[in-house]
Amino acid sequence: MSDLQDLSFDDFDKWRRPPPTITDFDRVLATAMSRRGVLRAGVGAGATALALSGSAMVPLAAMASSRFAFEAVRASTLDTVTVPDGYQWDVLTRWGDPLWSDGAAFDQQSRGTAASQRRAVGDNNDGMGVFSKDGRHVLAVNNEYVNRDILHGNRADNKPVNADDVAKSKAAHGVSVMEIVPDGDGWAVQLDSDLNRRITADTPMQLTGPAAGHDLLKTAADPSGTKVLGTFNNCGYGQTPWGTYLTCEENFNGYFSASDDTFDVPDDFKRYGIGKKDRGYAWAMADERFDIAKHPNEPNRFGYVVEIDPLNPTSMPKKRTALGRFKHENAALVIAESGHVVVYLGDDERGEFLYKFVSRDRYQPAGDNAELLADGTLYVAKFNDDQTGRWIALTPETTGMASKAEICVHTRQAASAVGATTMDRPEWVAAHPMRAEAYVALTNNKNRGKKPNKGGDATPVGGPNPRAENNYGQIVRWRPADGDHTDVAFTWDIFVLAGNPVVHKDAYGGSKNINAENMFNSPDGLAFDSLGNLWIQTDGKYSNEGDFAGQGNNQMLQADPDTGEIRRFMVGPKECEITGLCWAPDKRTMFVGIQHPGEKGGSHFPDGGNSVPRSCIVQIRRDDGKVIG
Ligand code: FEO
Ligand code: CA
Ligand code: CA
Ligand code: CA
Repeated sequence: MSDLQDLSFDDFDKWRRPPPTITDFDRVLATAMSRRGVLRAGVGAGATALALSGSAMVPLAAMASSRFAFEAVRASTLDTVTVPDGYQWDVLTRWGDPLWSDGAAFDQQSRGTAASQRRAVGDNNDGMGVFSKDGRHVLAVNNEYVNRDILHGNRADNKPVNADDVAKSKAAHGVSVMEIVPDGDGWAVQLDSDLNRRITADTPMQLTGPAAGHDLLKTAADPSGTKVLGTFNNCGYGQTPWGTYLTCEENFNGYFSASDDTFDVPDDFKRYGIGKKDRGYAWAMADERFDIAKHPNEPNRFGYVVEIDPLNPTSMPKKRTALGRFKHENAALVIAESGHVVVYLGDDERGEFLYKFVSRDRYQPAGDNAELLADGTLYVAKFNDDQTGRWIALTPETTGMASKAEICVHTRQAASAVGATTMDRPEWVAAHPMRAEAYVALTNNKNRGKKPNKGGDATPVGGPNPRAENNYGQIVRWRPADGDHTDVAFTWDIFVLAGNPVVHKDAYGGSKNINAENMFNSPDGLAFDSLGNLWIQTDGKYSNEGDFAGQGNNQMLQADPDTGEIRRFMVGPKECEITGLCWAPDKRTMFVGIQHPGEKGGSHFPDGGNSVPRSCIVQIRRDDGKVIG
């Protein structure tokens, strides 16, 4: 998926119209309808049957002939990156590294200023993709948020104290675009490239689609409701075959606050967690638009997927309201056989939903696709316990809401109105590159079976969310009817239930494709490589104790979608999350994100000694220089 623009027309056609294949998944579904298997005994309260895939039921001995090109890496608590024998890694770039030679080098004491941060890579890199044109390549990467204790570590309480601190924080958010060039065996960032660009919380953008210009989006600074400053909390990403980058606004609520304590927070705000207190960013201290008591419509202008042309540094980013407003994780895009663009979208909050967008117009391989994401139909998933499911269109008729514009702003409320299935925090979706099948990481949900979501929807145990108080997470996959991603019907199963089989002998021990050697918790990033391998990145508990004993630091694993086998490929440094994954154009280098190492003060990654820990992108290669996915 991440290198669509590199495919030949033949390969692209094959990708769009995969040849029919009989896979394990087919065989499993055929039998699953009549006889559903329970792996380990003692399933969590209320779950009478687990829709586990047959792949997960393949005995481990049968997995002996594996497609993995590496030996498994052991769990680790070291403050470094560990890769298999025969592989090597180094740092490509890190938070605070200048993109232009007039930028100041990272200052370990001050951790930079607004001025230096505007000329440097942002903090907390997350989703990323490589884009190519005329033999040049750029890496676009999200800078999701800032580690406030670290960014403001020069202040007494590690808190922002003045306008420059706020401006520095805003400049550390957004997206960093950088040209990459071959360098030795790998790649290097090209300083001063005319393609380098920083997009921040202050970059002008256009609001497009059904909600653009609606009263809910109008503010004192923008009476048109079509122009907005900035993007922030950009989590996962998407990539289109027409060469644009999709950056997904996730926890946007945490930046707003109210100066007036008597401000009455509307229910529509509460559903999104917008309230009178921010999460410590204090942006309203220096920028009034983050004060909801004064500018109550400003939060309605965030929570979207933003489309960026990363190869045109002067292009204006476009917020795509047609893809809905929620805590967007990533945007997994496929072109259906009909030519319609289908984008799968997760809303990462406990008990929120899984969505898909289907474009109104069709992709034209040699045509102008620039506005394909401007209009279409938004659907939300309803999973049935019998391993079938349906996408329900969100329209004024189905939701009872006044207009499509309103549905695109109050999307969570619209999905609740149609009775969508509350999920265990949908993180990344990845679509299989060779067949019509998609996977979603459901990272965890301690409230499953205990508490409703923020809209009051019940979160019963069952279906794709089979365990109460789910601290481990699972990966669920589905296959659209007739191999057509625009179809409203689908079948589904659970690809893996994460767990700890050493600590638990029941469903919390995980599915049978989990063992003491490959166990993990909280799957988050998901991506397919060009060979059809599924890569899993984790954002979980790294205590290495209790329920998480033996799991070590966060990690990245590879999975075989045909057999269900999973093998650990990499372990990150202390207190990090592994997030963001893409490949160089020659597929001999893999770029992997290390986010927030030392978020609790326990790491000096990547530079060691007494240095400030910094989020970074590492590049991984095989010693023999062969393709890595
Ligand atoms: Fe930014 Fe849901 O992860
Ligand atoms: Ca994530
Ligand atoms: Ca996560
Ligand atoms: Ca994160």
